[in-house]
Amino acid sequence: MTNKPSFKIDDCPDRTLHSWIEAQTDIAEKFAGLKPSLKPNPFIRFKIKDFDTQKVLNSVFDANVKHGWYGFLSHFSDKPDRTPYYGGFSITYNPEISYPVPEHASALGEPKVNLHDFFETKAGVKAWYEIEDKKLGPQFFKICFQEGLKPIKKFLDDNGIAFDDPTFDWDKKFIPTKKSLRNGYFDTYGFRFLTEAAKEGALGDFLTNRVKRKLCRSRTAYLDGMAWNPIAKDLMWHTDEPIYINQRINIPLQTTPNYVCEVKGHGIHRFEVGYAYTWDTTAVHRVYSVRPELSQRIHLVLGTIPWFDYDPDSRTYYANEFYGEMHPYDMVANGHVIEGIEVDKDSVVYE
Ligand SMILES: [Fe+2]
Repeated sequence: MTNKPSFKIDDCPDRTLHSWIEAQTDIAEKFAGLKPSLKPNPFIRFKIKDFDTQKVLNSVFDANVKHGWYGFLSHFSDKPDRTPYYGGFSITYNPEISYPVPEHASALGEPKVNLHDFFETKAGVKAWYEIEDKKLGPQFFKICFQEGLKPIKKFLDDNGIAFDDPTFDWDKKFIPTKKSLRNGYFDTYGFRFLTEAAKEGALGDFLTNRVKRKLCRSRTAYLDGMAWNPIAKDLMWHTDEPIYINQRINIPLQTTPNYVCEVKGHGIHRFEVGYAYTWDTTAVHRVYSVRPELSQRIHLVLGTIPWFDYDPDSRTYYANEFYGEMHPYDMVANGHVIEGIEVDKDSVVYE
């Protein structure tokens, strides 16, 4: 294969690996030029043949005991608290992550500073929705880390994002941090090794033998209905990377009708055990518990890299045979992401 690009991670400047790759290629144009034969509406739902949900769930429970369970480190608080509402353990990790964090907690948020009570105001929650809608989250956090709260005000103004709270004090203390996006939580391709938990039991068998693509930032994801609170769902709105960078595969292991996924403008959907799901995660979306409930939703959330493979010896991401040639949705449908699947073409269930 000719003209297939490759990227040594040691050549990457101080920015995320995937943004560096995007800047040097016409990957976005290549993606835009491909018309998939299968389209999400708004989800693609498929069955994974011979996937033993109970066995995988048991190995997730075993891993919790052995390797721990970590709540998400809120993006929205200066305190290093992990929330009991959303958490799990990392399936992948980056050995060069730029701040101290246990391997099995590393795909569950990163410490934030300089936001103070920004997200405790109604104006802040509203602004967050616009920040995500405009896909400005990583830039927003970079300014928080490196410049503090006052430059955030300018950032919001420059991007036409309203912050309707004239009493808010923008002069609060600034703790400078060198933390850049590189080797941070948003450095999606930095998360390139399976954690110990992800190598063990039926979970390890599945990830090693059935998943055909390189995984990037991935986790087991629990939502705990007992930790429900009234504003959690408003802060769960978010977007993920373009699917040609990171195609998310969501596999429910345990759930109840209390847990929903909402894609903005497409209503809510209840994911079911026995299926796996993918969709356009660049659309603003959220998962949440509708009401307090004595139950937990447990999913695998796999970030798969459709168009690059990784060589650990040369520390190089290199374009694979699908690069610019096959739409990531068609890769799923043809078993190039998870081996042995069957797409459910009559799957859409809305409210
Ligand atoms: Fe997401």
